[in-house]
Amino acid sequence: MNMALMEESLAAVCARLPACRPHCALIAGSGWAPALDALATRARTRYADIPHLGALAVPGHPGELRLATHAGCEALVFAGRRHWYEGGGWEPVALPVYLALKLGASVLVLTNAAGGIREDLAPGDLMTITDHINAMGVNPLVGNRDPLWGPLFADQTCVYDAPLRLCLDAAAARSGVALTRGVYAAVSGPVYETPAEIRALRAAGADAVGMSTVPEALLGSAAGMRVLGIACVSNRAARSNAPRLNHADAVAVTTAAAPRMRALLCALLEDIPKYAALPRESA
Ligand code: HPA
Repeated sequence: MNMALMEESLAAVCARLPACRPHCALIAGSGWAPALDALATRARTRYADIPHLGALAVPGHPGELRLATHAGCEALVFAGRRHWYEGGGWEPVALPVYLALKLGASVLVLTNAAGGIREDLAPGDLMTITDHINAMGVNPLVGNRDPLWGPLFADQTCVYDAPLRLCLDAAAARSGVALTRGVYAAVSGPVYETPAEIRALRAAGADAVGMSTVPEALLGSAAGMRVLGIACVSNRAARSNAPRLNHADAVAVTTAAAPRMRALLCALLEDIPKYAALPRESA
């Protein structure tokens, strides 16, 4: 990762957004953008206007950075995610985490759309990510020399913050939204998996699979942030004799889940300032 490029991006964001010290940063994955409507936007800027973040090519990702507030929580909202499979290197993927850190956010909320591997996971289900399997074959920290991202061999025992997971459980209960838990496996994409790959991931302990989230989670965790991950199951992962997969169907499922995502995120943000102020015990 080229830190000098990321500093340029930070300067552009500081010039475009009013001074802020957000409690959290939220990265909205495929189909999560409509769920952000309930948040009051104080300021916004397009990714295309932020050097090295660039324009998004993936449908379902608006590509806008917003400074939003809800119930006293100030959030740096990344409406759209850049992916490793887009081929732009690690800077666009890591930038939201870098910007969040530099602007003072201590909580990182990551959302995505995922293929359900566990039999009971149905399209539309929301899942707290309890742990992950990095099956991408790459890691954004390769070659890192910057102490911002923590020590070499950063501990990954508890990437997804346990108190924040309980906070999400409470938010789900308050908002009446059903939530399940599971292990997320990240693959590089940009193709869906074969049925054999899904059998292998299931045997390895994965409950859901997607092409994102893990890079940001491991960066945020290595840098000492509290990380929370929420997946929306947009389809059943590839199986023999099952319908073919496509992105448009996945976005349609997540779009239909928007009212539940919205209620969950709003309830979650109400409690985030409490957690943002607490030291992270494992950091
Ligand atoms: N596989 C990989 N990534 C995904 C899937 C899937 O089935 N669904 C949504 N993102």
